[in-house]
Amino acid sequence: MLKKENQILQANNYIIENFSEHHLADVMDIEMHANPTPWTKQTFEKILELRSLSFVIILNSQIVGFCIANKVLDECHLQNISVIESMRRQGVGNFMLDILKKRMNLSGMKTILLEVRKSNKVAQDFYRGNGFQELSIRKDYYQTKNGREDAIIMSLKGL
Ligand SMILES: CC(C)(COP(=O)(O)OP(=O)(O)OC[C@H]1O[C@@H](n2cnc3c(N)ncnc32)[C@H](O)[C@@H]1OP(=O)(O)O)[C@@H](O)C(=O)NCCC(=O)NCCS
Repeated sequence: MLKKENQILQANNYIIENFSEHHLADVMDIEMHANPTPWTKQTFEKILELRSLSFVIILNSQIVGFCIANKVLDECHLQNISVIESMRRQGVGNFMLDILKKRMNLSGMKTILLEVRKSNKVAQDFYRGNGFQELSIRKDYYQTKNGREDAIIMSLKGL
């Protein structure tokens, strides 16, 4: 079967849940394996206090991806998006962006803004493939294991 058809069939089995306290342990586990300087529990807990657009994707009772995003004025700030390693390149990331856009639509938001590490070429390809464009560079924005690295600010407009 074609890859796209397979992805559509699989997407029919995804469950979408608003990000909540009981997802925290699994989300942090995904984060630990995905981010060179993972977010702390306190950072995730702060997100939980906000009324955010954040959600998780569940397949066969397992969280396979999460998306953390907030409304800032009339824009959406995509703060974190991640898929478990074994499920990457199977359309979960694209699916999450589609869900985010639907949620934004309901709240009248038309622009997504995000920062991505300069070294994270996979994520940049993922965003570019979804129509994001580079806006600017934020010097030394991120911590690395042995110093700092720039962030690329990207945006998707006109949703
Ligand atoms: C970025 C990430 C969320 C993408 O999720 P994903 O489920 O693997 O993405 P998808 O399968 O929906 O891929 C969609 C498109 O993105 C691009 N893409 C995704 N992974 C890629 C890779 N490893 N290399 C090149 N392009 C890639 C491709 O264009 C792909 O379409 P295709 O498979 O039809 O060619 C995932 O790689 C991830 O969790 N990375 C670690 C966390 C992270 O870096 N998050 C971003 C922080 S800013």
